Amino acid sequence: MEKEPKIVAFLCNWCSYAGADLAGVSRLQYPPNVRVIRVPCSGRINPLFIINALRNGADAVLTSGCHPGDCHYATGNLVARRKFALLKNLMDYIGVEDERVSFSWVSASEGTRFAEVINKVTERAKKVGPNNGLFNKESGCGGCNQ
Ligand code: FES
Repeated sequence: MEKEPKIVAFLCNWCSYAGADLAGVSRLQYPPNVRVIRVPCSGRINPLFIINALRNGADAVLTSGCHPGDCHYATGNLVARRKFALLKNLMDYIGVEDERVSFSWVSASEGTRFAEVINKVTERAKKVGPNNGLFNKESGCGGCNQ
């Protein structure tokens, strides 16, 4: 049996989290291997949160916020997108496949879209395989061998 990848999803409270909730209430099918972390706004996500999730055994990390123009804090989602673009550029440098990090916009009414995003993130994680880039299972340390 194929091992399901571990996915950590940072979801903004106002849109993406509500979209995930709608997907659940609507009984839409998506992989159950997602650990949701609710944040006030996607702009709150520090790229270190994503790196730490990967260091602690996540196979892929999703950040999702409100669509442009819908952020409850005006421009938090646009700030998040800029931070995410910089992090994507860094992935190769730190030795992690960039397929492991994803960014999306999902509104509160888009339960179907949330399920599609999770399915896509899971497929990409399966394609690249288990995360061994930052996570050293033998030493318990993220690549420092200590
Ligand atoms: Fe949702 Fe800012 S409140 S991204």
